[in-house]
Amino acid sequence: SKAVTVPALIAMRQAGEKIAMLTCYDASFAALMDRCGVETLLVGDSLGMVCQGHASTLPVTIQDIAYHTASVARGNRSALLIADMPFGTYATPQQAFENAARLMQAGAQMVKLEGGIWLEDTVQYLTQRAVPVCAHLGLTPQSVHQFGGFKVQAKTQEAARQLKHDALMLQTAGASMLVLEAIPAQLAKEVTESLTIPTIGIGAGPDCAGQVLVMHDMLGVFPGRKARFVRNFMEGQTSVEGAVRAYIGAVKDGSFPAPEHCF
Ligand code: KIV
Ligand code: NA
Repeated sequence: SKAVTVPALIAMRQAGEKIAMLTCYDASFAALMDRCGVETLLVGDSLGMVCQGHASTLPVTIQDIAYHTASVARGNRSALLIADMPFGTYATPQQAFENAARLMQAGAQMVKLEGGIWLEDTVQYLTQRAVPVCAHLGLTPQSVHQFGGFKVQAKTQEAARQLKHDALMLQTAGASMLVLEAIPAQLAKEVTESLTIPTIGIGAGPDCAGQVLVMHDMLGVFPGRKARFVRNFMEGQTSVEGAVRAYIGAVKDGSFPAPEHCF
């Protein structure tokens, strides 16, 4: 099938077709997810938890993400490949560009950064230098020690207003996509309606332009605590490919996320 591009994702959003994203860390799963028709693959820094066994994403390095990105790129054919910038690798625009360039050279077609207003200059700097950017707001796991745990975000009116403002700013600064994690479904709906770029939700309700899950969560193999927004798509399936196809189908027909997965 044809390579997925940013304009194609924007066209999907305009046509009301939901975008399916999964995290992916190796070539074999990349090939499987790609042939199932997932639109975008994310080499998430969640690999620190699901592959390396750390308690957070903070220990992940740029080398780790580059290694997994190169592996995923070798298995993938059509999906848009996004790579996470790890904690501490994008504190300044110039540092961000140097590290993003390593991920792009490893095969990423877009990089993802966690944060709001403080990233305005960095998003501009990257996008002016040919690095497409996916932003990430809400429960940004690199801030776990500031949040005091993996907790739902933007529950107060003030925090919701700030998040809406950040989302618009990130789009204006040049971001092509926005991940919204663990925020009230109503807020995610309002943010999605206020933007032209696609929003991708995880614990952010059914009204985002697309959805993402960590592959170990949707296959039910992560041994840690299961977040409210996770659904195990292996249930009722007899193969990993069946589970991935069930996930994509449920995203496309709007049956995932259901109310029990939302805040
Ligand atoms: O690292 C990751 O897997 C992510 C997604 C859950 C959005 O950032
Ligand atoms: Na991440």
